[in-house]
Amino acid sequence: MKGAAARAAELRRLLERANYAYYVLDRPEMSDAEYDRLFRELQDLEAAHPELSAPDSPTHRIGAAPASAFRKHRHLVPMLSLANAFNEAELAEWKDRNARLLAEVRTSGYTLEVKIDGAAVSLTYDDAVFVTGATRGNGVVGEDVTANLRTVVDIPLRLQGKGWPKRMEVRGEVYFSKSRFEKVNHERERQGEPAFANPRNAAAGSLRQLDPKITRSRGLRIFCFHVEAPGYKLPVDTQHELLERLTAWGFPVEPHHRLVPDLTAAHAEITKLEALLPTLDYGADGIVVKVNPLRLHAELGTVGDREPRWAIARKFAPEVRVTKLKEIRINVGRTGALNPYAVLEPVEIGGVTVSTATLHNFDLIEAKDIREGDWVEVTRAGEVIPQVLGPVIKKGARRSRPYKPPDRCPVCKSKVEYPADEVMAYCSNVSCPGRILESIVHFAAAMDIRGLGYERVRALLDAKLVKDVADLYELTPMHLLALEGFAEKSAHQLVEAIQASKRQPLSTLLYALGIRHVGAQGAKLLARHFGTMKALRNATAETINRIPGIGEAIAQAVFGFFDEAKNRKLLERLDKLGLNFKEPAATEGRGPLAGKTYVITGTLPSLSRAKAKELIEAAGGHVVDSVSKKTTAVVVGADAGSKLERAKSLGVPVIDEAELLRRAHRKP
Ligand code: IVH
Repeated sequence: MKGAAARAAELRRLLERANYAYYVLDRPEMSDAEYDRLFRELQDLEAAHPELSAPDSPTHRIGAAPASAFRKHRHLVPMLSLANAFNEAELAEWKDRNARLLAEVRTSGYTLEVKIDGAAVSLTYDDAVFVTGATRGNGVVGEDVTANLRTVVDIPLRLQGKGWPKRMEVRGEVYFSKSRFEKVNHERERQGEPAFANPRNAAAGSLRQLDPKITRSRGLRIFCFHVEAPGYKLPVDTQHELLERLTAWGFPVEPHHRLVPDLTAAHAEITKLEALLPTLDYGADGIVVKVNPLRLHAELGTVGDREPRWAIARKFAPEVRVTKLKEIRINVGRTGALNPYAVLEPVEIGGVTVSTATLHNFDLIEAKDIREGDWVEVTRAGEVIPQVLGPVIKKGARRSRPYKPPDRCPVCKSKVEYPADEVMAYCSNVSCPGRILESIVHFAAAMDIRGLGYERVRALLDAKLVKDVADLYELTPMHLLALEGFAEKSAHQLVEAIQASKRQPLSTLLYALGIRHVGAQGAKLLARHFGTMKALRNATAETINRIPGIGEAIAQAVFGFFDEAKNRKLLERLDKLGLNFKEPAATEGRGPLAGKTYVITGTLPSLSRAKAKELIEAAGGHVVDSVSKKTTAVVVGADAGSKLERAKSLGVPVIDEAELLRRAHRKP
């Protein structure tokens, strides 16, 4: 234990020094890879020993990672997980173990509750008012995401009814409805952002947004099922009454819960509920069985600090179906990556008809020896994208030949490249039509050209009106009117939208160009650092690699992009056409803190001084060293000294980090 504490202290010191050298001195002492390795070691250490977590730990502040600015929240009572029972026998064993500890369990009844598959949260209420909301974290310490949870429309901000404990933590599960999830993913794809793998990841990710407006736009919901109120008496005696009381206080409670007298009744009801789960508009990954009297919860206690003895999750094996794999097809992405997928004999899995499933990559097809014509196992376990698990080979069955990854691109017949250090394969032709379609659609979404989706891009390509993104800027309404589906108004609108996109800043254009590994964030860093396309074009891979936040892979890809004659030509054309090749200088004069001056004093809970300064400046404000009457506010952390005194004597407002974050993220 002592060893862990000493190592954590050492890691913090090393990381802090590297951080200081990197951000403040602008003289990196450590490679990104080394920094990441040490950082992860510290994170793991702190996760395993929550008592080692310290307010000054660099794990609280991670530069670009959005979660860096959330405060830690220590739960009043640890947030537990649940043991699983995969069949009736395991459920009976659970009951017998409990009955040996407490005979009463045999006759006390159980509640059955749908187990929502989302992100666990804890909501603190003081005198019936929602004051703090936190993620589960490691169960002991989570992240304070109050501002985000306030955007979850069905969380009560003030309780109704009566009888609530003066202070309590209400536990629940934040989730995406299936329909909402599909909408959000659809929108993300349209915007060229990666789709969420499943509603659970989407819920967790949405909760950890720095900007609560983003969380709000996602449309999260919640179901609540548990209360902790140490030191206070609850106004109910059973779990069943608690669920009813939660409802009366204004919390959403999953409506299919029920009370059963014993396990025999439980089995029958669980069978019914299992059939119900796929029909619900939210993901559910089992049924939670709970001993009904709350008094027995206290007596049964927990196993370690991990799982209560009084509850268990009855899980169902993920649904797997066997069907025939008719054909292996390949889709070419905008980076030229070849994405193999299976065309299946349609099969129903979890209430949805599945006719295609991803095969991920060629290595996987080879490792599992998946062949055309095989019977294969397909699953859709919570994941939205169905996947092929592997072939089911009957003895003596005749199979087709092993699948051979293509040498030639299925769309344009160019050579396929298999980079040694990657699992993905790529079409070598930058002008591959498959790739061009995807890249123009991506370009249009990134440049915010409304009304230019797959269908229209395909039509433009087919009519040979467009071969690359530069051609878009030469389109006139006349061109479009010749195409099906365009009228006078829509043709003008699209041309206007295309022309308007010329003003997008360099960062947006760089992202829109779809350079391999360059996401929206990387493009911003590049544009801010170089300022102009020309400066970036003339940079070496080494110079690019030295930019904080840009790694080797991005540097190589960017350099390679500009090295290619075809790309240089494209850029020349875009330049002539009048696209903006510059990044506006920071946000001075704009942003929510424009014209405001702040002084920072003391140690803030999660932001370093440098980070807080960066945040204020990015929002258009200034940071100065001394307090004067003109100072907008003093941001105060722990151990603040004379500046706080001076602020008070001058009557300058004093705010904390949370308030600063709120102001900096407000819309101007
Ligand atoms: S009871 C002490 N009830 O499942 C309370 N959990 O795998 C223990 N969950 O962390 C949890 N629906 O986030 C409980 N009706 C329900 C639930 C539920 C979803 C989640 C919860 C928990 C996880 C355990």
